[in-house]
Amino acid sequence: MLNLVVLISGSGTNLKALLEGAKQQEAPYRVVAVFADCDAAGLAYAVEHGVKTRVIAPGEYPGRPEWGQALADAIEEEISGVSVSAGADWLIVSAGFMRILPRNFVDRFSPRIINTHPALLPKYPGAHAVRDALADGAHETGCTVHLIDHGVDTGAILRQGRITIGPEETESEVHERIKEIERPLLVQTVCEIARGDIDLKNLAASA
Ligand code: GRF
Repeated sequence: MLNLVVLISGSGTNLKALLEGAKQQEAPYRVVAVFADCDAAGLAYAVEHGVKTRVIAPGEYPGRPEWGQALADAIEEEISGVSVSAGADWLIVSAGFMRILPRNFVDRFSPRIINTHPALLPKYPGAHAVRDALADGAHETGCTVHLIDHGVDTGAILRQGRITIGPEETESEVHERIKEIERPLLVQTVCEIARGDIDLKNLAASA
């Protein structure tokens, strides 16, 4: 059983998909804790599913390294709480977490940290991926589930999904349509990691 810790900042619909996926018969993963950097609306989904939540806000720490360490310590507490059960495996999933994770955090957990991004990476990394695709006149875009490394959305690509952009579509319309394919793609990717069909160590080593 793969134990997930999910990081969110906003509406949390990807988290909701993960929580619902975990309820399916023979789901190979479960969500053990949800962390946010602010009082994110999506935390309510975790509460509904009886999953522990915690807010670790960067503003409460003197700098990024201190925040990174506090977040990592708190996550490790959750992971070690479940890892005592034999062979329990874990994964950190950044699902709409709108912060770059500090170097000390990434060093501690890599390669067991993945992110979902609303563009076909390596195109349009960063916080305004949908806006950037539209400004670029792109005819298609999509989403990417990838490993987190020290760069901004630069880690090894695990899975992608694509959509065609309509002529008059707005940024929020395109983003909503991306999210429709992003949620099942994230759940499917987590299942593949849980079943050993995606080998994170190998991918990180060959990146
Ligand atoms: C997703 O499109 C994710 O890729 C991006 O922010 C969105 C989060 O949506 N970084 P939600 O909070 O899961 O609804």
